Amino acid sequence: MGALRLRGHLFPCVVLFSTLLVFVSAEDPYLFFDWNITYGDIYPLGVKQQGILINGEFPGPDINSVTNNNLVINVHNSLAEPFLLSWNGVQQRKNSYEDGVWGTTCPIPPGKNFTYILQVKDQIGSFYYYPSLAFHKAAGAFGGLRILSRPLIPVPFPEPTGDFTVLIGDWYKAHHKTLKALLDGGHRLPFPDGILINGRGTNDTSLTFEPGKTYRLRISNVGLEHSLNFRIQGHQMKLVEVEGTHTVQSMYSSLDIHVGQSYSVLVTADQSAQDYYIAVSTRFTSKVLTTTGILHYSNSKKGVSGPIPTGPTTETGWSLSQARSIRTNLTASGPRPNPQGSYHYGKVNVSRTIKLVSSAGQIDGKQRYAVNRVSFIPADTPLKLADYFNISGVFRVGSISDKPTHEKIYTDTSVMGADYRAFVEIVFQNRENIVQSWHINGYSFWVVGMDGGVWTRASRKEYNLIDAVSRCTVQVYPKSWTAIYIALDNVGMWNVRSEFWARQYLGQQFYLRVYTPVHSLRDEYLLPKNALLCGRAQGKKLEPSV
Ligand SMILES: *[C@@H]1O[C@H](CO)[C@@H](O)[C@H](O)[C@H]1NC(C)=O
Ligand SMILES: *[C@@H]1O[C@H](CO)[C@@H](O)[C@H](O)[C@H]1NC(C)=O
Ligand SMILES: *[C@@H]1O[C@H](CO)[C@@H](O)[C@H](O)[C@H]1NC(C)=O
Ligand SMILES: *[C@@H]1O[C@H](CO)[C@@H](O)[C@H](O)[C@H]1NC(C)=O
Ligand SMILES: *[C@@H]1O[C@H](CO)[C@@H](O)[C@H](O)[C@H]1NC(C)=O
Ligand SMILES: *[C@@H]1O[C@H](CO)[C@@H](O)[C@H](O)[C@H]1NC(C)=O
Repeated sequence: MGALRLRGHLFPCVVLFSTLLVFVSAEDPYLFFDWNITYGDIYPLGVKQQGILINGEFPGPDINSVTNNNLVINVHNSLAEPFLLSWNGVQQRKNSYEDGVWGTTCPIPPGKNFTYILQVKDQIGSFYYYPSLAFHKAAGAFGGLRILSRPLIPVPFPEPTGDFTVLIGDWYKAHHKTLKALLDGGHRLPFPDGILINGRGTNDTSLTFEPGKTYRLRISNVGLEHSLNFRIQGHQMKLVEVEGTHTVQSMYSSLDIHVGQSYSVLVTADQSAQDYYIAVSTRFTSKVLTTTGILHYSNSKKGVSGPIPTGPTTETGWSLSQARSIRTNLTASGPRPNPQGSYHYGKVNVSRTIKLVSSAGQIDGKQRYAVNRVSFIPADTPLKLADYFNISGVFRVGSISDKPTHEKIYTDTSVMGADYRAFVEIVFQNRENIVQSWHINGYSFWVVGMDGGVWTRASRKEYNLIDAVSRCTVQVYPKSWTAIYIALDNVGMWNVRSEFWARQYLGQQFYLRVYTPVHSLRDEYLLPKNALLCGRAQGKKLEPSV
């Protein structure tokens, strides 16, 4: 991974003025990508595996964009099975058609292609893309996706010398179809075989730093299941950004990154000229997997040495207090010039409270996972297309309730209705002994509170209504709750899922249909002209008769 210098420097006044003019008058720039998805041999843990590659690469190429860029990504599916990519953290404003998950977009058939046209509207930050169907995520086709600030918008720290994508995740030596077959058969997955850093195993990843210089690392947990702790021998990390929010810049000697989450840190090469371990290890597991990478000083006189730095203890208290310490820098700009604190989320009246309780159970002797009793199963037609073409009988709004019950779990194509512009409190309750991680497509939300035990109305007293961080993926500790506030300002059909991949595959997900009865292009775009049609939407006319 090369160092990239992308953010603009100060321009002389005249240039600045003309840039501004171009800015106002020109359409937002387009970036074009042509991606071929193929199988290919990879050896991340020293044994040959069939990986899923993008233009021959594992992991896939980074997407470097700037706020409001239009991304045109032509994806050619050269696999022998249907395929989709999804864009974790990209909000797809008014445009859930491009979301690339089963409920919004028809799979790209083998040998065919589909061009995603999406805009990274009003966003900044560090995210990633990943393959959303089957169990493809266990084989690759994921990569970094960064959205830089526009040149005139202040960033609350000096331009780093380099900017690295660091994708970490647990990994199996088994083929993704073998893992999928285990799940289809109603079994659980075994413990993973290792951890990868940028698609490589122990000691195979090396980041080179110039002495005295500062670098940004954009770390995403693209793994399948485990929370990971990230640390660098002899170095502190300054946290600067979490999934699109500039944070209060605090120093951390290690960071817990739960599955699906992304963090940006600044690291300065301020130690003596040698190599240092980058260590990544599983959290809250009885057996701890650790992998190492190398932080190499360009003037290094010595290879890595000494003990690999150890991670924190397995108790959740440490992790919980770290999570609570991550806050928004209210005076820093986000995607717009105005400060991130200008929107006072803590003063908006909540119009609805939704409680989501995750659970595990058996249906017909097979392992399933559920949220509010419902274990999600896909229907024959993407939900968004059924909605668009008014095809009845594909799903029922209200097929998952706002309030949990303790009864047995069952399967359904669960869709929860919600009003456009509602301001909602969602409480994730985790009764189990694992760390959960929840993601909502199309949105970022304020993480107002988390604590052990069962959430009650009294828990609201603990909420941070001032400077909670706004993000798109949040953890829920074992036998604990996490509460979020979310402004439903994006019409569409949005996937809400566990990032614990076996669980989302076996039903721990649903769709949130953010709806307005008035159809207007101001609120939602039309189905794109190149949309693939499948199921009961096959053969429908693309242009609606308005
Ligand atoms: C994708 O790669 C495969 C294997 O190399 C090749 O056969 C195919 O022509 C490529 N497709 C495109 C659209 O480039
Ligand atoms: C498939 O790719 C071709 C160019 O290779 C492009 O013209 C066409 O629009 C793409 N199809 C879709 C559905 O995006
Ligand atoms: C990684 O490098 C260190 C230092 O050279 C070495 O002690 C260790 O055995 C290496 N690990 C592997 C798995 O090669
Ligand atoms: C918050 O952002 C401002 C820029 O508006 C910056 O000057 C300041 O150092 C940041 N504070 C912290 C604690 O990160
Ligand atoms: C919130 O509700 C309170 C009490 O019903 C009301 O007085 C207040 O004006 C509301 N605030 C907003 C911003 O709507
Ligand atoms: C679906 O129904 C809505 C509301 O009745 C209507 O406005 C819209 O045009 C219909 N769409 C199609 C594709 O028929």
